[in-house]
Amino acid sequence: MKLNTLAQVISFGLCAQIVSVAGLNEARSLERRKTSILFNPQGLPQLPGLQEATNASRQVGLNLDDVQGDILIGMRKLFERFFFFGILNAPDFKAKLKTEILPLVTSTMQVIANETDTMLNIAFSQTGLVALNITGPTNDLNDAVFAKGQAMDAFNLGDPNTTNWVPEFVGTNIHGVMLLASDTEASINTTLADLQSKLGNSITEIYSLRTAMRPNENRGHEHFGFLDGISNPTVGGFQDPLPGQALVPTGEILVGETGDSVTRPEWAKDGSFLVFRQLKQLVPEFNKFLADNPINEPGLTPEQGSELLGARMVGRWKSGAPVFLSPKFDDPDLGKDPTRNNNFTFAEPGQNISDPTDQSGCPFSAHIRKTRPRADIGLPENVTSNHHIVRAGIPYGPEVTTDETSSNTTEIERGLAFVAYQSNIANGFQFLQHFWANNPKFVHQGVGFDPIIGANASAERPVNGLDPTNTTRNFTLTTDFVVSRGGEYFFSPSISAIANTLSV
Ligand code: HEM
Repeated sequence: MKLNTLAQVISFGLCAQIVSVAGLNEARSLERRKTSILFNPQGLPQLPGLQEATNASRQVGLNLDDVQGDILIGMRKLFERFFFFGILNAPDFKAKLKTEILPLVTSTMQVIANETDTMLNIAFSQTGLVALNITGPTNDLNDAVFAKGQAMDAFNLGDPNTTNWVPEFVGTNIHGVMLLASDTEASINTTLADLQSKLGNSITEIYSLRTAMRPNENRGHEHFGFLDGISNPTVGGFQDPLPGQALVPTGEILVGETGDSVTRPEWAKDGSFLVFRQLKQLVPEFNKFLADNPINEPGLTPEQGSELLGARMVGRWKSGAPVFLSPKFDDPDLGKDPTRNNNFTFAEPGQNISDPTDQSGCPFSAHIRKTRPRADIGLPENVTSNHHIVRAGIPYGPEVTTDETSSNTTEIERGLAFVAYQSNIANGFQFLQHFWANNPKFVHQGVGFDPIIGANASAERPVNGLDPTNTTRNFTLTTDFVVSRGGEYFFSPSISAIANTLSV
């Protein structure tokens, strides 16, 4: 018998009742695409090549054929659809999970090797696992934050309540999410329509979000205009770190690997918790704030003063160049050089703690300093912090219209479909949001909120250190430029777990 497509090969394997990862690997190596479904913006580290990833993963015994493709690749997707669903008929869904979804689920190796036209990943919420009858103490993933769901966590995250939330995220009805990514929206539409017709009434669509990298010169930049995805940690077994990039234990991102100290069921190994947040960005309002408050520094025009204020709020210029290395003006060459643009610690070279009073280079409150304080909490980072996440988000919504620019008011929703992977939500996303970004006393008393994502339940937010001419000056932000529209917590299982546990 001649098997032509990946799907045929895998269904054949399934008919034979053997769903081994080796079998999947063999099948996957049959197809190779000429162009990548991903885009690698200048300034982000290149993804590892096939050989590099193979060698690295072998060294630590990590099976990248079994890890779903979205977890380690970061913010490089051109188009992505988030399809949130409820399970209506569990036995029917389980059968189709095995025969229809599993053959299309894309592994890390497949993404690296360009062996897919549309990447498909799937992840389940706690209520989704219950619907699949993955219950009882032996199946407990032991992540309390995941177990209660994101709506119950809204208060901890600084959301005033769930009134700003997309209604479908309120409650625990969402059982799972399918992530489909490609270089054209047409490929996503075709794959999704096909899947939906095969899944029939076993599931129901609850909510869906279309997203896309911004066009032209803004590719890779989030809606406020800043290059995003530069500084993601890498894990042992995937890629060697570039200068300044965090190399974290594999188990900080992947469940059950070295560095994950929590007891997990065997089947959960090499899965990862997926935090999804729909974060609306008030871009015209953000731009107005910058235009109204330019840093008044000798040698800078008002426009440059406004750009400097924005850069100090983020900690990087729009090009990606860090303000710590380029404090007064943007340096696009630095921004696009991944060997230099992450190579700093906030301390003087050679010191492992930064000066607790000096925010001339970068405010303590800057978004990248709040969410990854580097030497502020001591080095080496893999010893002093287990609070790393791999970000895999992508913008959603249209570009700002001329009407919105002239009225300084958002009329059409746009923002970031924020995705973060980690092996422990309380140490990862929740910690970053709650204990760091929303905590005006972190990393020192009085530094204020993260001006980008810090949330104070809609109340005003003091922020310190933004003005380099007077770093003790306080700003009071009366607008949340990022508004949470809610989300959900999911578990993105390994491919063998889908085959051998979730679909049986
Ligand atoms: C709309 C919301 C957000 C925007 C516009 C935004 C924007 C950015 C930008 C421009 C960067 C710098 C580029 C880079 O290093 O990749 C960055 C870095 C980062 N962001 Fe966000 N972000 C948002 C939400 C979040 C959230 C919710 C978290 C976590 C709670 C987060 C955590 C991080 C981390 C960990 C880094 C890297 C810091 C480093 O390693 O230096 N971000 N973000």
